[in-house]
Amino acid sequence: MASKYTLFLLLLLHFRSATCDQEQPNIIKLGFSLSPTNHPTSWLSPSGRFAFGFYQNGNGFSVGIWMMGEIENTTTWTANRDDPPVPSTAKLELTMDGKLLLRTESKNSKPIASVRESASYAAMNDSGNFILYNRDHRVIWDSFSFPTDTLMGGQSLSRGAALFSSVSKSNRSTGRFRLEMQYDGNLVLYPIHTPNISVDAYWATDTSDRWSKKNLDLHLNSTGALLLINITDSTVDVTLNDGSLAFNNSIMYRAVLDSNGILQLYSHSFNGFYENKTTLLWSKPDNKCSVKSFCGFNSYCTLDDDQPVCRCLPGTDFIDMDEKSHGCERNFTEEWCKDAGRSTSSPNIVPMENMDWDDPPYFQAEMQEDDCNKSCLEDCDCDVALLDSEGHCMKQKLPLKYARRDPQALSKAFFKVGLEGVKKKQTGDNTSQEPPTVIIRTKDATVLLLVVTLGLVMWSFIALAISGLFAFKLRFLEYRRLLDRGDIGLSEELALRSFSYKELKRATNGFKEELGKGSFGAVYKGSLSRGKRIIAVKRLEKVINEGEREFCAEMRVIGRTHHKNLVRLLGYCAEGTKRLLVYEFMSNGSLADLLFRSQRRPDWNERVRIALEIAKGILYLHEECDAPIIHCDIKPQNILMDDFWTAKISDFGLAKLLMPDQTRTFTGVRGTRGYMAPEWQKNTPISVKTDVYSYGIMLLEIVCCRRSMEVNVQRPEEIVLSSWVYKHFEARELEKLVWGEEIEKKSLENLIKVGLWCIQDEPALRPSMKCVVMMLEGITDIAVPPCPTAASS
Ligand SMILES: *[C@@H]1O[C@H](CO)[C@@H](O)[C@H](O)[C@H]1NC(C)=O
Ligand SMILES: *[C@@H]1O[C@H](CO)[C@@H](O)[C@H](O)[C@H]1NC(C)=O
Ligand SMILES: *[C@@H]1O[C@H](CO)[C@@H](O)[C@H](O)[C@H]1NC(C)=O
Ligand SMILES: *[C@@H]1O[C@H](CO)[C@@H](O)[C@H](O)[C@H]1NC(C)=O
Ligand SMILES: *[C@@H]1O[C@H](CO)[C@@H](O)[C@H](O)[C@H]1NC(C)=O
Ligand SMILES: *[C@@H]1O[C@H](CO)[C@@H](O)[C@H](O)[C@H]1NC(C)=O
Ligand SMILES: *[C@@H]1O[C@H](CO)[C@@H](O)[C@H](O)[C@H]1NC(C)=O
Ligand SMILES: *[C@@H]1O[C@H](CO)[C@@H](O)[C@H](O)[C@H]1NC(C)=O
Ligand SMILES: *[C@@H]1O[C@H](CO)[C@@H](O)[C@H](O)[C@H]1NC(C)=O
Ligand SMILES: *[C@@H]1O[C@H](CO)[C@@H](O)[C@H](O)[C@H]1NC(C)=O
Ligand SMILES: *[C@@H]1O[C@H](CO)[C@@H](O)[C@H](O)[C@H]1NC(C)=O
Repeated sequence: MASKYTLFLLLLLHFRSATCDQEQPNIIKLGFSLSPTNHPTSWLSPSGRFAFGFYQNGNGFSVGIWMMGEIENTTTWTANRDDPPVPSTAKLELTMDGKLLLRTESKNSKPIASVRESASYAAMNDSGNFILYNRDHRVIWDSFSFPTDTLMGGQSLSRGAALFSSVSKSNRSTGRFRLEMQYDGNLVLYPIHTPNISVDAYWATDTSDRWSKKNLDLHLNSTGALLLINITDSTVDVTLNDGSLAFNNSIMYRAVLDSNGILQLYSHSFNGFYENKTTLLWSKPDNKCSVKSFCGFNSYCTLDDDQPVCRCLPGTDFIDMDEKSHGCERNFTEEWCKDAGRSTSSPNIVPMENMDWDDPPYFQAEMQEDDCNKSCLEDCDCDVALLDSEGHCMKQKLPLKYARRDPQALSKAFFKVGLEGVKKKQTGDNTSQEPPTVIIRTKDATVLLLVVTLGLVMWSFIALAISGLFAFKLRFLEYRRLLDRGDIGLSEELALRSFSYKELKRATNGFKEELGKGSFGAVYKGSLSRGKRIIAVKRLEKVINEGEREFCAEMRVIGRTHHKNLVRLLGYCAEGTKRLLVYEFMSNGSLADLLFRSQRRPDWNERVRIALEIAKGILYLHEECDAPIIHCDIKPQNILMDDFWTAKISDFGLAKLLMPDQTRTFTGVRGTRGYMAPEWQKNTPISVKTDVYSYGIMLLEIVCCRRSMEVNVQRPEEIVLSSWVYKHFEARELEKLVWGEEIEKKSLENLIKVGLWCIQDEPALRPSMKCVVMMLEGITDIAVPPCPTAASS
């Protein structure tokens, strides 16, 4: 009897506690858990409008909060949004020791809410807030304090915090835009990964105070007003929308930074189960195409049926047809600029109305339309010119970041595009300079032997004759005159030889084997002394200086340079209009091949050695020759590797042939894009510091083993190597530049510091090559470099 009574009591107790739970279904007790497949998969708010739990994400599941019935459109919060989805075996658990954990395997778990205190219970609030409480019913964590891309009525975005858009409706990972509640009181929309500066902003409340910090938070109140409020005294500073509706319990408000970068405010009214209604109340910016970087590099945004779409600029194609926001790349090579500005082929100009962009131009002046067009056409650096309504002609290089088509803009753009049929090669640049090739012995070695012997006999005969003349007849000056004529096969440096055209034609087997094409002309492989000595013969095209005399004088200057890090000039040929140079043959190709193309990435010590060798070579050109030689075209393609992988600089001294007066400015002749110092564009004098700049860019390439411009990267900020490097340098995360390599930190930092000093926009700030060598050798300390572009902006 007694036992029956106890059982009844127990049952009663059990029943009562069960009803208690039903009265407060939103209280989540310790020990409760959810699984993605077994019911329940989520915890509901008391009214059932909001749910917290697992939702389907791709093939797996993620944890988040959403409005019931509209999970796809109203996921208001996602836990650890950038983590991959979890499998169906995962478990979400409020553990007995008061932690909210997501377990994927029995041993593997990750906190959803990181709190030091342990929770006593949790609740899904009817406002859309998931809250953890402690023993004293105090809130110790809530999802409203960690917004992702959404603010709900009653939620705030505090100073210094930001909303980040999602990738898409179905993928809630961090997307491409951010809404920043700045400390200065301004609420601003930016593309992600841009600095907090106005050129990158595409919408702002302009509520900043220049003189003091304003304690402003963004707040969406429960009646749908978006406010900037002073948190210290709760005064409203600005009301962004004009919505001040009466309080209605069946209407919820939701502000979201959409995946296309638009900030939108919605109302959701719940009128019973079948009549829920979603209304768009307010959105900013009004023009969907003003969202910066909605379209990727080299593409522009235009409205098609009120929807923004991306199109490629003339002369470019989408990098990825399936992902048009990744931008476009050129579909032709600039044939007309490859040969230092004087080529027979010339580009077409495609005009386009109503274009606009905010990318800063490198050149700006008032001009007429025709002049603007012409000016760009004649300027090798100009990829596009924009003539605005006030007649400013702004010349620009690609890539363009923020282009858009705006029917209101009274501007006209002139795009330079390639000629039909001049198509870009698909796999990067395949125009190698001097790739290593197999040695082929010349077939008619006997003929060559004869010729060479004959040549040698002739040569010695002439030499004899000359010395005879010298001995018997002529005074010193006359001797010089003969030497200067250069056609007698003698020079001050016995090592430097003058060849006849025929001789070289034979040595190269009729210019049969082309090693590559440089900025001055093609290079052919040849051999002398019955194939014993392999040579590289460069046939110069487009030399301004017609005079044989000056050419030979120049050759002797180059011939006098002897340094182990310079490619040796063995001889030359100046016959009529023909100009050829004979160099020692470099069997291991160029530094560009080694860095960018080979399977074997040179190890760190080798890279440091190469960097130092090149620096010593340039130092010799700048300071140890009779007159400084400015190279003007330092780049990895012009650094060649000999049999022992010693780095040697080639093509030095040649720039002078194309520009007689090196100390002044000149147009038409340029270095190579990407390695050119800013003074090329600024009409300021070219000096040895120009080479220092190019060296700096190349040094960063050597450090990172990647090109200075790389379009096929994951993030747009990685395109330009120098700014990417500076960003990581500033953030003290250099190891990210050399991913997966074990490099001594100090050594890496030193090389990067030297590189950043060399690429300062202001030539005076760049160190001399002597200083560079000393820094690389560790003889002098290296100060922390400023931002390379700081001096010019
Ligand atoms: C979501 O997008 C990110 C970034 O684009 C991507 O890494 C991730 O794989 C995507 N997730 C799913 C489930 O598709
Ligand atoms: C309307 O919202 C309620 C939550 O308040 C939800 O249970 C219901 O499924 C929704 N109805 C529709 C048609 O989405
Ligand atoms: C989400 O919104 C789109 C348009 O904004 C609508 O077509 C779609 O039906 C919505 N999905 C749900 C589940 O309500
Ligand atoms: C929970 O929601 C109610 C209204 O739905 C609100 O008044 C209350 O402040 C919310 N509590 C928290 C901690 O957000
Ligand atoms: C922008 O400013 C916010 C604070 O207002 C800061 O947290 C954030 O790191 C800044 N972002 C950049 C890229 O400077
Ligand atoms: C929300 O803000 C508006 C505008 O300041 C105000 O009129 C309204 O009373 C506010 N609502 C609540 C519930 O405080
Ligand atoms: C915000 O509140 C603080 C503290 O009350 C006050 O000193 C400050 O002047 C207020 N700022 C504005 C812009 O009203
Ligand atoms: C609240 O809004 C609903 C739907 O818009 C409406 O039917 C209802 O009358 C409103 N209630 C009040 C008190 O205004
Ligand atoms: C390059 O792309 C444009 C379209 O953007 C196209 O009109 C042009 O014909 C293409 N040029 C070449 C050489 O493929
Ligand atoms: C631009 O200039 C070139 C050469 O002067 C000319 O052929 C072309 O028609 C001009 N284009 C426009 C749009 O003015
Ligand atoms: C360069 O072109 C040749 C054929 O012309 C091809 O075999 C080779 O793979 C190309 N190299 C690269 C790096 O694209």
